[in-house]
Amino acid sequence: VPLPNPFTPGQVPRVLAGRTVELRAIRDQVARVAQYAEVGGPLLVFHAPRGIGKTSLLRTAQRQAEEQGCLTVWVACSRERAFLSELVRGIDRSLARADVVPRSDARRWRSFLDRITLELGVPGVPVKVSASLARAPRTEPDPGSAPIGALEDLLHDTARRVRDRGGAGLVVFLDELHAASADEMAILLNAFQNLDGHREDNPLAIVTAGLPVTPEALIRAATFGERSSFVPLDLLSAEDARAALVEPAAALEVTWTAAALDLVLDEARGHPYLLQLLGSTTWSAAEPVGGGRLTLADVRRGVPAARQQVEAMHRARWNSATKGEQTLLRAMARAARANRDSDNVTRAEIAAGMGVDSRSISVPRDRLIDKGVIEPIGHGLVRFTLPGFGAWILARDDD
Ligand SMILES: Nc1ncnc2c1ncn2[C@@H]1O[C@H](COP(=O)(O)OP(=O)(O)OP(=O)(O)O)[C@@H](O)[C@H]1O
Ligand SMILES: [Mg+2]
Repeated sequence: VPLPNPFTPGQVPRVLAGRTVELRAIRDQVARVAQYAEVGGPLLVFHAPRGIGKTSLLRTAQRQAEEQGCLTVWVACSRERAFLSELVRGIDRSLARADVVPRSDARRWRSFLDRITLELGVPGVPVKVSASLARAPRTEPDPGSAPIGALEDLLHDTARRVRDRGGAGLVVFLDELHAASADEMAILLNAFQNLDGHREDNPLAIVTAGLPVTPEALIRAATFGERSSFVPLDLLSAEDARAALVEPAAALEVTWTAAALDLVLDEARGHPYLLQLLGSTTWSAAEPVGGGRLTLADVRRGVPAARQQVEAMHRARWNSATKGEQTLLRAMARAARANRDSDNVTRAEIAAGMGVDSRSISVPRDRLIDKGVIEPIGHGLVRFTLPGFGAWILARDDD
């Protein structure tokens, strides 16, 4: 029987390499919830471009929180649906699964949820703004107090119920938080701040993740959002990247030759998705049995399949960019090529390549950062979030 492929491009990994600091930050909050029956700490906000491992981190933490006796709820925000109503449904499902609501109390719980749903139903209504108002300085969204109070009640009641039934508390996971509306973010931040004001009554923690634009969006939604705990996720270190390749294979008693490992590490440059993808294509090419080895030849035979996949991702990113953004991306690709050994490009280099003043690239640059296509890495430098994108753009121009 062939061994199953242990690599997981696009799914939660079997072995979460690295991320010990990030997991510890979440575990500390869960421990506080469990030990003191109080709010675990500030809103945790992990942020990173696509494919860096936000969802994988949160899913791993979710499992750990459940092992600590917490009830967990998971909501992925989206532009189409209000996450607050998803949260009500998610909490209801989780409580039912954990059998937290006694049968005798089922009716009261149901009418409580109906009230909450009704009161939360306010946000997201598009408001027509007159031209003069639109030019006025932007103020924070004011969602009104009803939905804030409703969310407070929902979280408080749920956490208490879990605790009363012998559980440790409630941990809410919100993935893709950048996709939430400003109104919903304001409701979340206000409700959480109020709950934190009575922290000893509220055994709960909220752990979120989103694209790099998330911190800014939260602060725009409510200035005190800046008191959240913002944690960027980076590429994996060389050591962690190695573990991401070696450990899932080792669990099936398969090893990598040094040359094969080096080639994949070199290609993926610490990018978690690329590590899983190349691990997976190498494995499929090798079809190893227990005690077998993944060789350089296997890596090479797997490359066309990996390339096809990455090609599709590059194309999707390119097509989602406007003409102006594409011009910037092209200038960036040329500058990166001119730098030879570095993908990091300065604002001045990009502007020079576009033949414009360096201030005038701010808008497309910020949009591309919001989309997670490029990322700032300090000192005015930016780089592509998916390695190889620059080369892909230049190759495309040559066609
Ligand atoms: N720490 C890690 N160790 C090993 N593999 C990882 C790690 N983190 C993520 N991965 C792998 O990287 C890929 C992307 O992970 P994930 O979906 O968690 O990223 P993401 O940041 O949530 O991306 P998106 O923004 O697209 O939702 C997956 O294939 C996953 O298996
Ligand atoms: Mg994700």
